Amino acid sequence: MYVSHILEREIPMAKRRKRVGMSTTAIHQGNDPDRETGAIIPPIFQTSTYVQASPGKHRGYEYTRSHNPTRTRLEECLAALEQAQYALVTASGLAAATLVMHALPHGSAVICGDDMYGGTYRLFTNVFQKIHHFHFVNTTDHQQLKAAVQRHQPALIWIESPTNPLLKINDIGHIAALAKQHEALTLVDNTFMSPYFQNPIPLGADIVLHSVTKYLNGHSDIIGGALMTNHQELYDKWWYLQNAMGPSQSPFDSWLVLRGLKTLAVRMRAHEENALQVAQFLAAHPKVKSVIYPGFAGHPQHELAKRQMRGFGGMVTAFLKGGLAGSRRFLETVELFALAESLGGVESLVDHPAIMTHASIPKAERLAIGITDNLVRLSVGIEDVDDLIRDLEHALKKI
Ligand SMILES: Cc1ncc(COP(=O)(O)O)c(C=O)c1O
Repeated sequence: MYVSHILEREIPMAKRRKRVGMSTTAIHQGNDPDRETGAIIPPIFQTSTYVQASPGKHRGYEYTRSHNPTRTRLEECLAALEQAQYALVTASGLAAATLVMHALPHGSAVICGDDMYGGTYRLFTNVFQKIHHFHFVNTTDHQQLKAAVQRHQPALIWIESPTNPLLKINDIGHIAALAKQHEALTLVDNTFMSPYFQNPIPLGADIVLHSVTKYLNGHSDIIGGALMTNHQELYDKWWYLQNAMGPSQSPFDSWLVLRGLKTLAVRMRAHEENALQVAQFLAAHPKVKSVIYPGFAGHPQHELAKRQMRGFGGMVTAFLKGGLAGSRRFLETVELFALAESLGGVESLVDHPAIMTHASIPKAERLAIGITDNLVRLSVGIEDVDDLIRDLEHALKKI
């Protein structure tokens, strides 16, 4: 069962397709033609409410904060892509994180990777620190992680892999097994890989989180989040909280994501192809100190990346020469690479984490883990790669 029990009972949804590839799933799951008209593209159910035949007698949908047929279709598709039984789509990635936090018992210990999206860090340290206890550790160091788990007895281990922005690879299978020994849940923020390159649930994770804003939608025109799991009790809690608190995605945005997902496979392949060439170009450039890309044989966890991922993704992190001033000149000069927060769209973006996406992490902590002022994070798009490289070459001359 991919969708909520209410929907399965009341609304005949697209049949679950077995033994098909990722592209077929992305294009067809949740995308059956409209039953009423045969429209090949299901309509957007742009409605806030639903007619009832008698009080409490409805067809599975009462109010769009609780359920919406377009969102249900997206949930069905995302659950299938992440090989999960349940998916809940939310208004943003951080809304999804918020639901996870509210679903934990009050006063829970949460162990988090020390390198994570700055907004998630801010949510944990400035909002949820009132009700939970957060411990940030280098989860790629298994001794350090084991000691932290024994000491804090967490309810949840929260990791990204690859991490944002240092592209460290966490061993999902190892971490999930350790968590299980201590009756903790493991959540993997799979935003950077997308289900095309990595499925954390078959590796042992309990929860997958996505900022749907990024690769899943792929066109930088909506904000959204999603949670996937095989635990019905977790899904039920999140659904209850979403209905009670209100961070649900609009039907139009869900429809756009359904559309974007159809090209997930071709986009991810193109992102990766371009990212590798951009990373190689940067690594050989005299104005660049070093480059992190999980696809490089020299990446410290390259072997692990090869084992648990089906590709290395479209994100590249580079340390430039010339300090903050040099980085500023580079970032002010790029043209095709837009200087902007976010990632995962078809257009190339470049970010300065220390000032932009990770500014909410205190400077000392940022520097301690290696997010320095000369670090730039590139979300390599699917433009012609020669044009991208020419753009970078031109901007690097300004350093
Ligand atoms: C890895 C990661 N997780 C979560 C989020 C938060 O998602 P959203 O911006 O959709 O709330 C982001 C946003 O940049 C992210 O990069």
